[in-house]
Amino acid sequence: MTKVRSVDVGGAAPYRIRIGPGLLDDSAQLAAHARGRHALLVSDDHVAPLYAERVAAALQAAQPELQVATLVMAAGEAHKTLASLGEVIDALATLGATRDATVYALGGGVIGDMAGFAAACWMRGVDCVQLPTTLLSMVDSSVGGKTAVDIPQGKNLVGAFHPPRAVIADTATLRTLPARELRAGLAEVIKYGALGDPEFFAWLEQQREPLLASDDAALAEAIARSCEHKAAIVERDPLEKGERALLNLGHTFGHAIEAEQGYSGAGRDALVHGEAVAVGMVLAARLSAMLGMAPHTDTEHLRSLLLAYGLPVDLPAGLAPQALLERMRLDKKNLAGRLRLVLWRGIGKAEVVPDVDEARVLEVLAG
Ligand code: NAD
Ligand code: GLY
Repeated sequence: MTKVRSVDVGGAAPYRIRIGPGLLDDSAQLAAHARGRHALLVSDDHVAPLYAERVAAALQAAQPELQVATLVMAAGEAHKTLASLGEVIDALATLGATRDATVYALGGGVIGDMAGFAAACWMRGVDCVQLPTTLLSMVDSSVGGKTAVDIPQGKNLVGAFHPPRAVIADTATLRTLPARELRAGLAEVIKYGALGDPEFFAWLEQQREPLLASDDAALAEAIARSCEHKAAIVERDPLEKGERALLNLGHTFGHAIEAEQGYSGAGRDALVHGEAVAVGMVLAARLSAMLGMAPHTDTEHLRSLLLAYGLPVDLPAGLAPQALLERMRLDKKNLAGRLRLVLWRGIGKAEVVPDVDEARVLEVLAG
């Protein structure tokens, strides 16, 4: 018998994350979250041919009176734009979606963030159900309600907090995920150990082989434990007034890399989001050691684990340190024009450090 795991996210707008194989075929569950007459299923052109018809049919079977439209976007970070957001809004208008409509986001974090943002904007907010199909979106982006699109000046700079109504993670979809994207998702899993859970970090050191081989039980455990970490933090701090910022370990560096590459992830030399976060975590650890906050041995420990998972740990060639620093100045965590970074005291002990000396950041970026 297949096991479905649940993680509940509490707070003002509580919801359940369900994790297990075959959940996209559970038509009653999928349709249970559609309150009104309209459902817009948003996906991308890699994921839609694999799963969209099944989801649309399941919704229709459970609720024959539901008007279901499907919108397929071009895949990839380069399409997480205001223009794509406009396409989702147009589709909602064409559907005649009323305030009780539901947006179903079927795909990775790009679709989840963009469709989630459209749901936040349409008529000042309609329901969004997240149907994550990448490991990264199952362990991170589908949970917590951050939605956004990128602009050339920076990543996720235009967005809203809009918690999903439900998250349904069908782990069977991971069987079609390219190996590189699986590894990128594992970077965000490692992040939870690095920022606050040394025991999970040690577990990940032991579980490398089953996780990289997409072993169902190991992946389910990694997803559930990651979601428990994220749920606990976003429940206490949904709007990132405090500790939620810790979830951004490695992200200020990582986002700067992605923006500087022009969001061309999965291109020949460009990093995808999870890979950029892997490099970013090593840079944050290195800076922490340079500032005397943490032992160098912990940087090496983190670097070794990321390498063991086949992840990049060094800045890609050709990115200028000064240009990356300029990007970092537009990070959402900064206050009063000063760099505010998530650094650490060692494995499992991340903290937010205000007013970081830019000269030291440049030193780290210059290697
Ligand atoms: P993605 O959405 O681009 O998906 C990666 C690739 O895998 C895409 O080409 C996609 O088409 C393909 N794909 C997805 N599922 C598949 C499947 N089951 N089978 C085959 N191919 C599949 O990238 P991602 O890594 O999922 O998400 C990255 C995005 O998430 C970034 O934009 C990042 O900023 C965002 N993010 C948001 C949050 C948040 O809290 N909102 C957190 C972390 C990351
Ligand atoms: N991925 C960071 C956050 O959700 O806050």
